[in-house]
Amino acid sequence: MKVLFVCLGNICRSPIAEGVLRTKAKERGLSLEIDSSGTGDWHVGEAPDKRAQRCMNDFGDDISDLRARQFKKSDFHYYDRIFVMDKSNYQNVVAQANDSEQKEKVELFLNLSHPGEDREVPDPYYGGNEGFKNVYNMLDEAAESFLNQVDEQTR
Ligand code: 4NP
Repeated sequence: MKVLFVCLGNICRSPIAEGVLRTKAKERGLSLEIDSSGTGDWHVGEAPDKRAQRCMNDFGDDISDLRARQFKKSDFHYYDRIFVMDKSNYQNVVAQANDSEQKEKVELFLNLSHPGEDREVPDPYYGGNEGFKNVYNMLDEAAESFLNQVDEQTR
């Protein structure tokens, strides 16, 4: 299965989600292909925000290898699931879909841990370190729920 995370800049929330899921999948022995992207192009080619990297280090993980890229329409073909962080990401991605099959691939990631609640991962870019920790905890919980579902489906 191929999974793509999408946020706005691809330097805070979606790289944390990518790192969290990649580590958890590895721990469970699940082979998932995982990537992340942003709807905006301001940070293309950059490593994750220093605060995101430090937050991951604090939780024993390392995302310094990741590089930002922009979401592109061909991602709809390649990926099976497209997880967005907030409703504005949802609108921006769905607006680029060709048909309902592509639209249905797009989901708010926190609906995995909190089905039907349409919760959003708040943008931590303009806040402090506490915001990143909060984002990490939300993404960690949703990633766990997602992998429990994958485990059930493949058993
Ligand atoms: P992200 O956070 O979408 O979680 O990567 C942001 C990063 C950069 C900007 C906005 C949000 N920016 O405006 O540059």
